[in-house]
Amino acid sequence: MNDFVKLTYNEKTFEFPLIEGTENEKGIDIKSLRAKTGLITYDPGFKNTGSCQSSITFLNGEEGVLRYRGYSIEDLCDKSSFIEVAFLLIFGELPNKKELDLFNSEILNDSIVDEDLKMILKSFPKSAHPMGVLSSLTSALIAFNPSSVDIDSDADMREAIIMLMAKFPILASWTHRKVKGLPLNYANTSLSYVENVAHMMFKRPHQDYTPSKAVVSAINKLLILHAEHEQNCSTSTVRIVGSSHAGLFASVSAGISALWGPLHGGANQAVIEMLEDIQKDGGGTKKYLAKAKDKNDPFRLMGFGHRVYKNFDPRARIIKKAADEVLDEMGINDPILEIAKGLEKEALSDPYFIERKLYPNVDFYSGIIYRALGIPTDMFTPMFALGRLPGWISQWREMRLRKEPIGRPRQIYIGETHRNFIPLKKR
Ligand code: ACO
Repeated sequence: MNDFVKLTYNEKTFEFPLIEGTENEKGIDIKSLRAKTGLITYDPGFKNTGSCQSSITFLNGEEGVLRYRGYSIEDLCDKSSFIEVAFLLIFGELPNKKELDLFNSEILNDSIVDEDLKMILKSFPKSAHPMGVLSSLTSALIAFNPSSVDIDSDADMREAIIMLMAKFPILASWTHRKVKGLPLNYANTSLSYVENVAHMMFKRPHQDYTPSKAVVSAINKLLILHAEHEQNCSTSTVRIVGSSHAGLFASVSAGISALWGPLHGGANQAVIEMLEDIQKDGGGTKKYLAKAKDKNDPFRLMGFGHRVYKNFDPRARIIKKAADEVLDEMGINDPILEIAKGLEKEALSDPYFIERKLYPNVDFYSGIIYRALGIPTDMFTPMFALGRLPGWISQWREMRLRKEPIGRPRQIYIGETHRNFIPLKKR
């Protein structure tokens, strides 16, 4: 096999090296393409473009495989905790007991935010979407913690990472508590990271609160499943913002905005709204499937389809099972789960969805679990962000440590060619 690819243009042949990953995926290294040929590539949506080399996540969309640092998502969901997975993603190895204890205690120690942040939160209307608020508060963290990160210093890098891991769940829970009119609270040092997520969100001032095992296990699983997914829209945003040497908090704040959209993380909210509409409409799914297939109708079956999975999203399989278990354990009978299952069954046997290889994605069932946990619909995407945080941090860290150049794509210009200026009076 050749270790280069030939391109013929204007009767000249150019060679470009082939690069190969550890799982044998191959790519053409076109770094010298424009210098050699004067050409650039055109690839809207970056459907065929590898923006980096990464050792964090392996994803095979054709076979439905997802691994973090080599460990299968199934194993991690079954045997590990979110905080262990966060350590694994960020630092590359599963932590031993001492490393994990240290990581946890450093996070707990930093689990406080400046009181003045409360004033910023207060100035948002209660109707503001929590994702907008979360993105703003994350960006505001920079003002309260202005020290810049020397990326060549492990200590500096670790400090910024711990700070964000510690403060982010506080901000996420505060966005929820504000809408609910609940006093803003802090983590309880005797609880684990995931227990604290539940504690900070649900604790009421006049009641003790101990999250049930079912709640902690469900949140743990959901956060692990959302923790990382290689070069998706929000992660690419984090990397490209960070590539200008903007700091970690600024980069993550941009990632939150990217995640907000209904074609990305916002799909979990959109799925539940769609299922509720179907329920209000009598529960029949045929009309919605027909709308999804109608090219003159902008409606899409939310929670279906994926840029890379052309097979079952392995996360959707785990979440579907978890939804059954959680609802069962909590004694909840949610008719929306039955509507979702019916919709999935019909879509999977419909030629439109079969031909296009459209399967349920991670967001199809996650909202049903969040609903069972009492999390309001517009907090679903902030929960996703909470899970994705270690993924964003690990990708930002990798990008900076690899000293990647600033991200700056090119374009094919299709506007007017040179025009002479027309003075205002003559227009
Ligand atoms: N419902 C109906 N048709 C769909 C759907 C859907 N959910 N998804 C894709 N299609 C169709 C498209 O109309 C297109 O049909 P065509 O070939 O006849 O034109 C074909 O399938 C390919 O779709 P694209 O939009 O080209 O695929 P792309 O990779 O660009 O988009 C995406 C992927 C955005 C996820 C898309 O499938 C979608 O909009 N899904 C619904 C939103 C969603 O669930 N997003 C969450 C993704 S997971 C995540 O981000 C965490």
